[in-house]
Amino acid sequence: MAESSPSKRAFNMHPALLLSVIKKQAGSLDKAVLEGIMNSIDAGATRVDITLDSLKVTINDNGRGFQGATEIEEFFATFGTPHEEGDAVYGRFRMGRGQMFAFGKNLWRTGEFQMSVDVDTHIGYELVDNLENFNGCSIEIKLYEPLSQTDVVYMERSIAKMVKYSPVPIYLNGNQINVEIDLKKFPQTTEDAYINTDGKADGLEIYNLGVYVCTLSAWQYGVSGVVVSRKQLDVNFARNQVLGNCKVWKNIRPLVDAKGKQRITKTTTILSDAEQGNVISRLVSGDMRPNDAERIRFIKDSTGKVWSPKLIRSKGFEYFSVAKEGDMFADKVMQTGRAFVISQECLELFECEASELFKKFAWRGMPLFCELDKLTSGMNQLGEQLDKKTWKKTEIAWLKVATRMMQASCGGWEQDENNRWAQKYPSRRVTLGTSHVALAWTDGATFVTFAREYLATLKMFKNGVPNVKDYTKFATVLLHEMCHDTDSRENIHSPDFYREFHDRADAIGDMVADAMNYMSQAQYKRITGEFDLEVERPEAVIVACV
Ligand SMILES: Nc1ncnc2c1ncn2[C@@H]1O[C@H](COP(=O)(O)OP(=O)(O)O)[C@@H](O)[C@H]1O
Ligand SMILES: [Mg+2]
Repeated sequence: MAESSPSKRAFNMHPALLLSVIKKQAGSLDKAVLEGIMNSIDAGATRVDITLDSLKVTINDNGRGFQGATEIEEFFATFGTPHEEGDAVYGRFRMGRGQMFAFGKNLWRTGEFQMSVDVDTHIGYELVDNLENFNGCSIEIKLYEPLSQTDVVYMERSIAKMVKYSPVPIYLNGNQINVEIDLKKFPQTTEDAYINTDGKADGLEIYNLGVYVCTLSAWQYGVSGVVVSRKQLDVNFARNQVLGNCKVWKNIRPLVDAKGKQRITKTTTILSDAEQGNVISRLVSGDMRPNDAERIRFIKDSTGKVWSPKLIRSKGFEYFSVAKEGDMFADKVMQTGRAFVISQECLELFECEASELFKKFAWRGMPLFCELDKLTSGMNQLGEQLDKKTWKKTEIAWLKVATRMMQASCGGWEQDENNRWAQKYPSRRVTLGTSHVALAWTDGATFVTFAREYLATLKMFKNGVPNVKDYTKFATVLLHEMCHDTDSRENIHSPDFYREFHDRADAIGDMVADAMNYMSQAQYKRITGEFDLEVERPEAVIVACV
């Protein structure tokens, strides 16, 4: 049999593929509503009204609507019909409406037509025509899954944020949610964009012609703020990213980048985590020379404190090492001034071995690398409790002082709503333990344990009179532990912790005064049986660390 000549054939698409495209491209309901709003603006609407409750979303506009059955066939019934240059501001792939289909039963009304879609039962639509003329376009989405009250509130906020700079007035449940661009807030205005880089939030919000696209972390450019493009940005399919080759963004980016550089190199600004990360990225990429970063604080140590190379140099550390944030041994090593310990997380950003760090970024006078193990050899385990029988009398005296001080630090007694008396800050049991790394520790609720090694460094009397200096040090350590409301052996100090310590620091005076008052010479003798008030100071193993 003679073979037939080739005939050109098209591929077909199974409706199931369309359904998965519709379902998979739909990120979230707020984004779907945004697609609807963008369509309204594209249709020339001068006002868009949205209503939203837990069961239903509606989008109403006064745009040109669908102009006849052909448009419905080509633009509504067919996915992917290409746009003609300049016929839409936001419209791109003629896919966006699918996102609205994905979240609920759709009822569209425009001109003399009504289209209803329920992709859960049929991948297609029902058309009614010859209806009374409807100006513009109205879409009702009966949600497949009702929203919780929290979801509704979230949706309201999110939609308002996404259309904040919309060129067309947008109303949500009757309230206008877009704002006019206030040039005072956008000090840099170019033909491509309105730019505000004074933001406090951690990131740069990008709006494509007034409609939200994404937030770029301050990691990226070292700035936070808002950019509202005045020309169409090239965005990805999901409209949540600006494409790398977007011409308009290529004009905006250097401006933002320069602002970022300006910001992070100003030594008076306290950089956020992301901005510190930006400094490191710039160093790693070669965009910034190490010298330019000398005085910027961007190197985080294992206790969470942030240093500049200059500051590290000024402390004259002999060694530097690396450890996870919160590592108590590292904390110890830092406090004794032996070594600077960079946090593991921070080191990783430099993309090099710890031992190479200050060779690759060769600031003057940086310490030498040494493994942490070597620096901490001989230090014992944290937080071992000691049996009461082994407590020495002088130690018992300090623990009694601690109990006294604790009363003074507990903020007095207050009656609660049930008329029960309670301490403002409940007191905790005081015990003795042993540790080379921690002065004291607590579980955050029931006990505070002091390290024997630490107590051995304190002296209760000096020349026969109470030693205010050591009392004060001791009170500070105790208060520190009392401010921990979680296990202090984790050694994590949150902003809340510092806040609390700050707020309660006033108590230190009372703590010291009360305890000194209590621990008279006679009392001390009763406890210790010693008459010699020049208590010998045993050899301290290691000093300060809390
Ligand atoms: N509110 C509306 N008013 C008039 N026409 C609309 C409206 N919404 C959608 N359309 C028409 O439906 C088409 C498909 O919309 P959509 O799927 O969002 O794709 P795109 O926005 O990328 O074109 C639009 O291009 C437009 O022709
Ligand atoms: Mg669209």
